[in-house]
Amino acid sequence: MKLEVIGQNELEGEIRISGAKNSALPAMSASLLTDEILLKNIPIVEDIKSMALLIKGLGGEIIIDEKNNLIRLNNKKLSSLEAPYEYVKKMRASILVLGPLLTKYGEVRVAYPGGCKIGARPVDLHIENLKRMGAEIRVEHGTIIAKAKGKLKGTRLNFEKVSVTGTENILMAAVLADGETIIENAAKEPEVTDLANLLIEMGAKIEGAGTDIIKVKGVKKLHPVEYSIIPDRIETGTYLIIGSLIAKKLRISNVIPEHVRSIILKLNEAGIFPEEGSNCYSVKKSEKINPVDIETQPFPGFPTDMQAQFMVLLTQAEGRSIIRDTIFPGRFHHVDELLRLGANIKKLGNGEVSVMGKTELSGAEVLATDLRASASLVIAALIASGKTIIHDIYHLERGYEKLAEKLKKVGGNIRKTE
Ligand code: EPZ
Repeated sequence: MKLEVIGQNELEGEIRISGAKNSALPAMSASLLTDEILLKNIPIVEDIKSMALLIKGLGGEIIIDEKNNLIRLNNKKLSSLEAPYEYVKKMRASILVLGPLLTKYGEVRVAYPGGCKIGARPVDLHIENLKRMGAEIRVEHGTIIAKAKGKLKGTRLNFEKVSVTGTENILMAAVLADGETIIENAAKEPEVTDLANLLIEMGAKIEGAGTDIIKVKGVKKLHPVEYSIIPDRIETGTYLIIGSLIAKKLRISNVIPEHVRSIILKLNEAGIFPEEGSNCYSVKKSEKINPVDIETQPFPGFPTDMQAQFMVLLTQAEGRSIIRDTIFPGRFHHVDELLRLGANIKKLGNGEVSVMGKTELSGAEVLATDLRASASLVIAALIASGKTIIHDIYHLERGYEKLAEKLKKVGGNIRKTE
């Protein structure tokens, strides 16, 4: 599948943000901790379908209501405790079934996740901390084989590196463990807090989600629940960038401003001041964009998932910007494709690139490599002169719901082709 974009149409109108993919995935894993769960505000994207297939492979029953963005999961009778490589190779987040299955059933096998385009994706911290809770874990022939004699034991844990899915796996393991688990240096991403809020609704005892230290008191059982997940802060940031570059006036609705503060601050530094409403932003094309330096950090710092998108904005800034990805130093596959569109970017090594602006971009054929890199190519195509064809847009469809439709609705000249 390809996307064909004719650039330089001024955008005007309203775009509604969908549910957060990185909240929906752990929430779907959390459904393994109880019999039944109804999740609302779920983005119907490829990763969600992959997670649904994985849970079906375990014997779970899943109904996806695409029209209403609902998923009902019923895991009363699982028939397998194995997440095979065919699912894990497509989506690293498959690792999120490790904690729930281990704590509820005392055993699980998950294919060891390979790397991906944005770099090595180790899970050593997930494994190390589960071992500290009493699990016996070994990796054989590319499969993580985990067993727990009886219940996992609550204990004090410390993440030497902040890990979003690492924190989420341990959180889900701890809610049914014996005794209290203290997670130090926990990830503070809103998606972690959303998972904690879901687990609390299911009867879990959790304090401190959203801070460095999360305390969990194990309970015997969790009960079914209906839960609506948070909107996607990275989708919000992506449309804020698009609006800053090429909108007459773009209103972005269904947002949580607290989740995008670091992105707004960087836009302000660049001379762009989106108008904030209670759960929306209005943004328009800025005549002059200042160069800014970016360094990605765990939440509440500037998110690595916004680095590629912001890079396109900086090709239009007047001067030199430096971008450093401290989380995924290799996450720059979009650079080579942006160069094809006329950008002036240099890789400096050790996770740093310099972006010179202001450069006119012109349409070309480009290749999507990973989710956020693909988003940066769409942004570049929207401001480039002439036609851009983006190949392999499967990557985009993993995490952006109805992106072409949303852009078309506000005047973008964009269409999907075979
Ligand atoms: C989550 O990935 C997100 N995915 C990623 O979003 C996001 O880029 C990332 O967090 C950082 O914010 C989901 O939530 C499904 P990490 P995750 O564990 O959990 C190192 C997207 O675009 N590390 O927080 O895999 C790791 O190498 C995706 O939606 C270890 O060393 O990331 C990295 O340098 C892409 N050992 C750092 O920690 C471990 O055991 C942060 O990784 C785990 C991680």
